[in-house]
Amino acid sequence: MAPAISKPLLTDLVAQIGKVPSSHIRPVGDRPDLANVDNESGAGIPLIDLKKLNGPERRKVVEAIGKACESDGFFMVTNHGIPAAVVEGMLRVAREFFHLPESERLKCYSDDPNKAIRLSTSFNVRTEKVSNWRDFLRLHCYPLQSFVDQWPSNPPSFRQVVGTYATEARALALRLLEAISESLGLERSHMVAAMGRHAQHMAVNYYPPCPQPELTYGLPGHKDPNAITLLLQDGVSGLQVQRGGRWVAVNPVPNALVINIGDQMQALSNDRYKSVLHRVIVNSESERISVPTFYCPSPDAVIAPADALVDDGHPLAYRPFTYQEYYDAFWNMGLQSASCLDRFRPGGSLE
Ligand code: OGA
Ligand code: NI
Repeated sequence: MAPAISKPLLTDLVAQIGKVPSSHIRPVGDRPDLANVDNESGAGIPLIDLKKLNGPERRKVVEAIGKACESDGFFMVTNHGIPAAVVEGMLRVAREFFHLPESERLKCYSDDPNKAIRLSTSFNVRTEKVSNWRDFLRLHCYPLQSFVDQWPSNPPSFRQVVGTYATEARALALRLLEAISESLGLERSHMVAAMGRHAQHMAVNYYPPCPQPELTYGLPGHKDPNAITLLLQDGVSGLQVQRGGRWVAVNPVPNALVINIGDQMQALSNDRYKSVLHRVIVNSESERISVPTFYCPSPDAVIAPADALVDDGHPLAYRPFTYQEYYDAFWNMGLQSASCLDRFRPGGSLE
């Protein structure tokens, strides 16, 4: 039986119309202003080679990571250890999934953000006023054996290919968390230990070509609620990061992944490392696929800034909270530039 849905998927809507429907048009003043974007390739987002992370020059790589986390909140990595065939397989199966007939894809549809496995559209169709030009599949991935049997079984290779990518992405996330801990002068295991039993979510984002990209967003400006994000993007541009009050394009670099600091790392580092605003714009020419891995604390983990990073000059920036508490606040608040983190400062309120 087909599930009841409140909105069609964008992929099906777009085939029927030649312009952006009113449901997806942003108010004037809240549009991408595409002419006003820094678009030189990379435009200064640091590119860090991880080849020497496990050798005598580890310290240098750790310092480069620390500097990027502190000043940009975003960087790209090469020689990250995820085999090229695994990356290619992930993108291929993602594309195949979104090209399946609607009836097949809709088997996974849900607009409930609490579901571990779901296909949806926009961001949170239950709360938002204007929709975004995105369909997405969200998958919980860790522990893999708890979720893989609920993942889509079509394309037939989906579970195997995506499971392999998710396992590799987790191994990279753990290496980065160790390097980040060291870069803060903490024990190598600090961040891994501070995140409870851990969780890993993946989004497979599908941005169809858009007839009027100046009227809407793939995703409006937001900060990621998790600890760190590892973003795989296909060859199509769309991601932009805010730096010094301007939007900067993070154009794809072959074989590189984009890493960014999320809100939990900002909290754990007592504001040393910044969760930075980013957004996705769409284009009229090509579909775009991106696969962020959101590495997170487990829901019951109590998040608190590292003691060693709190002193007279750096007072405690957050009260302790559980990740579940944070995650609920994030999804209910919707994507907006006001930081969800501010609600968790000492004396902050959830109103
Ligand atoms: C996200 C995100 C970037 C992209 O899903 O949170 O920022 O390029 N995605 O799709
Ligand atoms: Ni994001």
